[in-house]
Amino acid sequence: MYAWRAMKDTPKKTSGQTGHGLVLAPMEGVMDSIMRDLLTGIGGYDRCVTEFVRISQTVLPARVFHRLCPELLTGGTTPSGTPVFVQLLGSDPALMARNARVASDLGARGIDLNFGCPAKTVNKSQGGAVLLKAPDVLGSICTAVREAIPDNIPVTAKIRLGFEDDSQFETIAAAALAGGISELTVHARTRRQGYRPPAHWSRLANISAMAATAGVRVIANGELWSPGDVLRCQAASGCSDFMLARGALCRPDLGRIVRCALSDTAQATPIEGVMAWTDIPHLLRTYLHRNAAQYDPRYACNPLKQWLVYLQYHYPQAGALFARVKRVRDFDEMDRALAAEEHILPAAA
Ligand SMILES: Cc1cc2nc3c(=O)[nH]c(=O)nc-3n(C[C@H](O)[C@H](O)[C@H](O)COP(=O)(O)O)c2cc1C
Repeated sequence: MYAWRAMKDTPKKTSGQTGHGLVLAPMEGVMDSIMRDLLTGIGGYDRCVTEFVRISQTVLPARVFHRLCPELLTGGTTPSGTPVFVQLLGSDPALMARNARVASDLGARGIDLNFGCPAKTVNKSQGGAVLLKAPDVLGSICTAVREAIPDNIPVTAKIRLGFEDDSQFETIAAAALAGGISELTVHARTRRQGYRPPAHWSRLANISAMAATAGVRVIANGELWSPGDVLRCQAASGCSDFMLARGALCRPDLGRIVRCALSDTAQATPIEGVMAWTDIPHLLRTYLHRNAAQYDPRYACNPLKQWLVYLQYHYPQAGALFARVKRVRDFDEMDRALAAEEHILPAAA
């Protein structure tokens, strides 16, 4: 049994400090600056990471980094003050280093390196999870990026257990650590295992102990849908730091309730701050409007429907709402549907 308390007054910790670190995962096509703002605003997270920025042949101009990480224009944090790390995906150490330098000069709070993306198109161009097959290259990328940017900007890496199987996991992790990274996130599945449950948290135990001796924290990731999952993962992996991905979309309050479950006072304090379905339509409406304003009202319904698909795993009402709006493509019609769900009428034009 967990006891919850409101998170509003919870002091921010970073995973570089003692205690637990909680990171909001990078998710291409979903975790853009709007979603990062909404979820970190609800609370619990120490840090978030951008969708990957693909580095293939050139040093990207500032506008590309600003598009994927508009937070660079406002001090590198979300409006709630949560630092945003810029994630790079590519295979050429020198080019990755030059792009990392651009991102850090633009004010990135940290650089995260993606060695986990399973997409065939990405892997074909030698980026993402395919580098798990080449630990030496993976290590060289970490080293080159580490050397290219100021010491006070952390370099972190995100890996899987391996490509086909997990037999090289220790070698891969050691290569990343030797490259001078400050934190290692491990999605506890191989590339072949994709996103299929289970995640093999216990596989992280040796590495997290080994990394700890080098002062590097290992962040456990994969199949963390509830506070109970996080506590089970903690027990199996020995990790104190966690990255929440799809679970954070299913439950917008997951960060803060996980934070409560991990807190030292979890036994004693009453439950507060859990979001009921009645809290969600307003959030959805904010999301719709922000998408229309930041991108294009003609396409604002698509991300909204995508989020509903995730939300239905925790809120059955989201499934019912999705069934009602799945054919809606018009912004105003969607807004009216959400307003009805919210039990308020849209303001008269
Ligand atoms: C739609 C989607 C997009 C993703 N995009 C990224 C990405 O851009 N960079 C990355 O490192 N991982 C990405 N991931 C992987 C997640 O960050 C995370 O490692 C994975 O979903 C496992 O965690 P989970 O089981 O809690 O969802 C993505 C996952 C999904 C489902």
